Amino acid sequence: MAGEFEGKVVIVTGASRGVGLGIARRFLEEGASVASCSRRQVAPPAFAAGIPDGAERSVHWVCDQRDFEQIDSFVTRVVERFGRLDVLINNAGGAPTTSTTEVSPRFHKATIENNLTGPMWFALRAHRQMIAQESGGSIVNISSQASGQGGSPTLVSYGAAKAGLNHLTKSLAKEWGPKIRVNCLSLGHVVTEMWREYIAGGDPANEEKLARMIPLKRFAQPEEVGDACLFLCSPRGGYINGATVVFDGGLT
Ligand SMILES: NC(=O)c1ccc[n+]([C@@H]2O[C@H](COP(=O)([O-])OP(=O)(O)OC[C@H]3O[C@@H](n4cnc5c(N)ncnc54)[C@H](OP(=O)(O)O)[C@@H]3O)[C@@H](O)[C@H]2O)c1
Repeated sequence: MAGEFEGKVVIVTGASRGVGLGIARRFLEEGASVASCSRRQVAPPAFAAGIPDGAERSVHWVCDQRDFEQIDSFVTRVVERFGRLDVLINNAGGAPTTSTTEVSPRFHKATIENNLTGPMWFALRAHRQMIAQESGGSIVNISSQASGQGGSPTLVSYGAAKAGLNHLTKSLAKEWGPKIRVNCLSLGHVVTEMWREYIAGGDPANEEKLARMIPLKRFAQPEEVGDACLFLCSPRGGYINGATVVFDGGLT
């Protein structure tokens, strides 16, 4: 990408594993400094492994995105460390499949907080920094095809939260342009531990059945989500704003 991210500062939430790790790694490979968070500490950040000078350009700190004060401190610390903030990838989230009536109301509340309220708070805090910079910034919210119009049985509160994220993306794009672009990437099947456990059910036969339903006949890898984020945040994606981009191999 010809140095488009050299010197840029990127936050990827939830990059201790899975999709976030792949996204953080791709931004780091393209020359950005990357700050990541999760509820549990990981040190050093796994996404920097094997990347020349990757360790100097990356941090991973604990921050629970269900608490605005933690988000506020985290972003403040990132700006103190790296001097600016150019990109926010709102990736942290997820939920197990459940029988909707058999889990507690508290479960549904927590799912909505983690997949809608937390990313909204992160976007609000990032906006405060980006709007003060001459070059503005770019935000990508990681959504799911569970937010689609067909509904998401067994992922009821999760699908509703992600549908909210798609809608919020449009609203923020309209409020925050031209300095800040906001987009959404709506994922189908991406191979992560979480996906293997909750979606594929730990069953290889089930994985094969799911793969056959996808026109590309394979699942995505986390780094490919990173490539899509790079494009959306680069000048090449500079006229894409308020969009929910479908990333599902043609499944839907
Ligand atoms: N994999 C897929 O097929 C797929 C499909 C559609 C959408 N998605 C979306 O892609 C994103 C990543 O999914 P994944 O498969 O990579 O899940 P994952 O493997 O469970 O990773 C989730 C990451 O988010 C962090 N996290 C979770 N809650 C957090 C919180 N409250 N505050 C801070 N960090 C938090 C986790 O670390 P801690 O647990 O230590 O906090 C972890 O680093 C999610 O938004 C998910 O909804 C994934």
